[in-house]
Amino acid sequence: MKLEKITRRRFLTGISFGLAAASAALVSVPVIGSILVPLFRRLPEVWRSVGHVDSFEVGKTVPVVFQNADPLPWAGVSAKNAAWLRRVSETEFVAFAINCMHLGCPVTWLPDAELFMCPCHGGVYTKDGEVAAGPPPKALARHQVRVRNGEVEVLTMPIPIA
Ligand code: FES
Repeated sequence: MKLEKITRRRFLTGISFGLAAASAALVSVPVIGSILVPLFRRLPEVWRSVGHVDSFEVGKTVPVVFQNADPLPWAGVSAKNAAWLRRVSETEFVAFAINCMHLGCPVTWLPDAELFMCPCHGGVYTKDGEVAAGPPPKALARHQVRVRNGEVEVLTMPIPIA
């Protein structure tokens, strides 16, 4: 059996490549992790109060603003979300996501027409949030709503875009 002689140059080249590979692995693990972890992380859902029950009139649809589930300290106004809240009866509320299901523009409630309108591409929704016209592929998303201790609460959710 013939043993190959390892030269000093070849040995140092091998060490260099080995150290470079180890450095690349050390750097890539946190980078890849920071990209992949948000894809699999379940966003927290939090109940947020939007006002006392008595401040909502039966039959009216009004905008409500609430804080996101996990706002970052530097998020500013983007830490807030909004919904269209309707008091259907003395005990029943429904909350529509404010974002159009097409590309997420905020929809507007037109009380006289009883329609939600999207200003971006002309999407139209019925008063129950079903698509009436335009490009939205599906009905407005709805937040869960409950009443606790006299307060109307809305369950946060990620921005719903189809
Ligand atoms: S974003 Fe609403 S119709 Fe396009």
